[in-house]
Amino acid sequence: MAKLQAHAVKQITEIVNRYKDEETPLMMVLEAIQSEYGYIPLEVQELVSSLMNIPVAEIYGVVTFYSFFSLTPKGKYVIGVCLGTACYVKGSQLVMDKFSELLGIKPGETTADGLFTLDALRCIGACGIAPAISINGKVYPKMSVDKVAGIIEEYRAAK
Ligand code: FES
Repeated sequence: MAKLQAHAVKQITEIVNRYKDEETPLMMVLEAIQSEYGYIPLEVQELVSSLMNIPVAEIYGVVTFYSFFSLTPKGKYVIGVCLGTACYVKGSQLVMDKFSELLGIKPGETTADGLFTLDALRCIGACGIAPAISINGKVYPKMSVDKVAGIIEEYRAAK
């Protein structure tokens, strides 16, 4: 989406028109764009800004505040490591560090092959099975550093 194609402009305009009369139109518009494209780059934020008459800085603030939104394309597999309190006290930071080490990326980054994105999550509602991670929405309970390599291999093999 480096340069916005005409059909993207049309589609985003339609999304804005669909939600502009809602109570929280910006969130709904951004959610719809994120679902449609998988990320919300600056040129899209600029278009939304002009269509909705909202400053780009405000839109950028929303996009960067919520981890659900992304400025860059995400990998095929999005690994979210919960760093909420229950998971953190049971060692989720160590699990995060292991993913980081083995994938060679920091949280928020995507591997060069486009296969994996690593994200830090707040509580995902699975505190009873902490520490928990989520990969494309599938929750893995009671994670440990020892399980990390095997999980990465499983997804690499599935490509
Ligand atoms: S803190 Fe991790 S699931 Fe609740």
